Amino acid sequence: MKLRLPIAIRYSRASFTGVSFLYFACASTVAPALAYDASGVTNIFKPDGTPARAIFDYTMLVLAICAVIFIVVTGLLVYTVARFRRRSGDDGHEPPQVYGSNQIELAWTVIPILIVFVLSLVTARTIAEVQNAVPPPKALQVTVVGHQWWWELRYPDFGFVTANELHVPVSDATQPKPTFLKLESADVAHSFWIPQLAGKTDLIPNRDNAMWIDPMTPGTYLGNCAEYCGTQHAQMRIRVIVHPQDEFEKWVADQQREAISDAQAKTGRDVFFSTSCINCHTIKGTEADGKFGPDLTHLMNRETLGAGAVLNTAETLRAWVRDPQKLKVGCYMPDMQLTDEQMDQIVRYLLTLN
Ligand code: CUA
Repeated sequence: MKLRLPIAIRYSRASFTGVSFLYFACASTVAPALAYDASGVTNIFKPDGTPARAIFDYTMLVLAICAVIFIVVTGLLVYTVARFRRRSGDDGHEPPQVYGSNQIELAWTVIPILIVFVLSLVTARTIAEVQNAVPPPKALQVTVVGHQWWWELRYPDFGFVTANELHVPVSDATQPKPTFLKLESADVAHSFWIPQLAGKTDLIPNRDNAMWIDPMTPGTYLGNCAEYCGTQHAQMRIRVIVHPQDEFEKWVADQQREAISDAQAKTGRDVFFSTSCINCHTIKGTEADGKFGPDLTHLMNRETLGAGAVLNTAETLRAWVRDPQKLKVGCYMPDMQLTDEQMDQIVRYLLTLN
């Protein structure tokens, strides 16, 4: 429970306001100046898209049935306690005990069976509705690979790879443009969860899972890994950025470009390519083709660093390169022991990767 708490906090603001305060207070002691702006809190009660809507409708039905049961049981209990309470003048004897009533026993056997039956059928129907959806021929396909502790996002139809921020086109009822996700893991089990868009689906090593989303409103949707996967599980965040179609096409075209080679950042580039950075990171159009860490080709197009650990600015980027262990303790990017000068040069180069 303890390990899951940070996620719960982010997803149910109302019930956890106090705990959230504690959480963010603790988080801010780690990196006060660079603390991640968590203003956007997501909400399972604001579904946007077919899978999330189906789950929401189902949840409401279950809540309604449970509410009726709660009211009936509590009502009877309160009535009994009040009606048969000890009164002055009681003789203190135990009241007559009644055993066996076929009608009552039938009722409290048959009614729960009917309720369970209804819930099972609705559950099966909702699962089938979400899982059996067939991708239309032009659906966007993205492969999501979970890593400790970031997300690799491959767009095989467009030939590029990015990280942590999933860009998709907006969908609507008349012109559905769903995105189908193939889920894989490079190491341990993770779980992909964008509460406003769909339910959780695990990413399991050596197994392909699938899910889909069809957000109906442009904007940014927040999510997090939902399966404990090690030290930085809580900072394995994901953003889904939903664009109108033309804007999405422009984003794709930008991502397909090779990295800009800015003459002004040549020194930094040389430093970058002389260190072991290139063993882990890819920068398209250069000799850096490492696969262990995120693709950096268009790094500065991303809103955050370290899978949502901090917002992506020149200041946080510098802090990240100086020592990633300060911003995301235990992550697999080491402190590269760079001199201040080397660091400035590398950051200057990275800032050109638009
Ligand atoms: Cu990945 Cu938790």
